[in-house]
Amino acid sequence: MLLKDKVAIITGGAKGMGRGIAHKFAAEGCSVAVCDIDVAGVRAVAEEIKASGGKALSARMDITKSSEIEETVAKVLDEFGTIDILVNNAGGVPGTHATGASGTFGEDEWDRIVSINLKGPWMVTEAVLPVMKEKRTGALLFISSMGAVSPVVSVLHYHSAKAGVIGLSLNLAFELAPFNIRSNTIVPGPIETPFWDSLLPAGPERDAFFSALSKHEVPLERMGSAEDIAGAALFLCSNLSSFVTGQTLCVAGGQPMMSNGAVFNIERYLKERGLL
Ligand SMILES: NC(=O)c1ccc[n+]([C@@H]2O[C@H](COP(=O)([O-])OP(=O)(O)OC[C@H]3O[C@@H](n4cnc5c(N)ncnc54)[C@H](O)[C@@H]3O)[C@@H](O)[C@H]2O)c1
Repeated sequence: MLLKDKVAIITGGAKGMGRGIAHKFAAEGCSVAVCDIDVAGVRAVAEEIKASGGKALSARMDITKSSEIEETVAKVLDEFGTIDILVNNAGGVPGTHATGASGTFGEDEWDRIVSINLKGPWMVTEAVLPVMKEKRTGALLFISSMGAVSPVVSVLHYHSAKAGVIGLSLNLAFELAPFNIRSNTIVPGPIETPFWDSLLPAGPERDAFFSALSKHEVPLERMGSAEDIAGAALFLCSNLSSFVTGQTLCVAGGQPMMSNGAVFNIERYLKERGLL
């Protein structure tokens, strides 16, 4: 039980990586607050955890709304008494198609995507820090993206925000080290989750795309899973990594190394098939 008696807030916990992390942490003895804008989704995840003997609560928390963040932190403190871990996982490009090249979107879209992927994680972090500072211990985890460090498709607002997350985590690691609060970042490669739904619906075309992407871009030649991310998250949020802070860990099947020396152009692939 690597997280026995710990309490974690996991944002974007309704599906994908957040759901995987919530299950992994609960199985290690952690009480988990599963938070998301998808209320039915978080309720279902919390029920699954409780059904298998774990401790969980669910909360509607839009990470771009300070009032919902405050309410959720109060609820977690009321129910579980403390906060030891924050996993800033919620993010993505909901409500858009994949493309985000220069000249294809305006200021409002920039603000919306940066708000979800950079400002939101900062706001949730600010809300839990007073508790962690008082305890003089805590673990913060941020989820960036391979596109922030090695883009193979142009998504300016999203990749800029995800690069910002690495800076945010690093600065926090420096600032909070005297409080024994650690802050680290995972950079996921391509992970098979509902994240890809806005790009390609599940089906044979998506399977072919994943297969081409894995073969050309991922040295281990497969897509990652939520479980792959959850294992790394457990390491970075437990005492297994008690002397690790300010680090950025690629959980990406060997990316950004190239498996065959060719750069797989996601945009060209989709355009050639009339999918973009
Ligand atoms: N899947 C990938 O290949 C991949 C690759 C690199 C980075 N990422 C990043 O990993 C994280 C998890 O992605 P995933 O693949 O599990 O995606 P996902 O779409 O499966 O899950 C993301 C969750 O975040 C929630 N969410 C979105 N906006 C929110 C908001 N404002 N407030 C609260 N919750 C919100 C969604 O409702 C959803 O449940 C994201 O930050 C994403 O940007 C994903």
